[in-house]
Amino acid sequence: MKLIVEKDYEELSRRASEILVKEIQDNHEIVLGLATGSTPKRMYELLIEEYKKGSIDFSEVQTFNLDEYIGLSEDNPKSYNYYMQENLFNHINIIPENTHIPNGKAMNLESYCKEYEDSIKRAGGIDVQILGIGTDGHIGFNEPANELEAETCVVNLSESTIKANSRFFASDVMVPREAITMGVGSILKAKKIILLANGEKKRNVIKDLLEKPIISTHLPVSLLRLHPNVTIIVDEEAYEGEK
Ligand code: F6R
Repeated sequence: MKLIVEKDYEELSRRASEILVKEIQDNHEIVLGLATGSTPKRMYELLIEEYKKGSIDFSEVQTFNLDEYIGLSEDNPKSYNYYMQENLFNHINIIPENTHIPNGKAMNLESYCKEYEDSIKRAGGIDVQILGIGTDGHIGFNEPANELEAETCVVNLSESTIKANSRFFASDVMVPREAITMGVGSILKAKKIILLANGEKKRNVIKDLLEKPIISTHLPVSLLRLHPNVTIIVDEEAYEGEK
């Protein structure tokens, strides 16, 4: 795992955006795995700026999002679908059919999850996967547990995730309890992975990831140790080791 420590959130976002700009320039048909949440927001703004400057073209890019809450329709402002439209897709020339976000209102969730997984395979797999990290070590919504699912599946959100994500809702009780998430296997099949973490709240989990030489389903992010091409970009607040 390659570690990059940037001074602050702005620099972290710039570094992540620079890497993605280069990847998109090198491969116009790139398949990107995308995350939502607070962490990648500024990176998306910077990508939009690069698109407006003419440095990148999204017309042949495909995207797959990691996750979506169950029960929220795509026009619900709390849904991850809405987030992606607002924070990226509405501002670039990506073709809507080339963007994929799990459907939290799917009728048959089991067959839907299989279909989502198959659509990633049909696209040739993910070239570059962007990840945030939960304070409990989750990636996507793969929460710490005795067992983790390999492929796209329905999961119950942990209490700590419900609490962490309640900042986007009126209160804890409004946070959906279930989500669809790409599995850890779906994530690990990406050719490259870029994990972003900023702020003091992520310091403990980043310390665990970097200092404990273990792989455990109780720290889902530790499974990234099995992957040959992971770049972790943190800011100084999320990192307490030597720079
Ligand atoms: C979001 C996702 C989650 C978040 C994580 C961190 O699509 O998959 O794993 O990346 O919960 O969220 P933030 O960035 O809000 O701290």
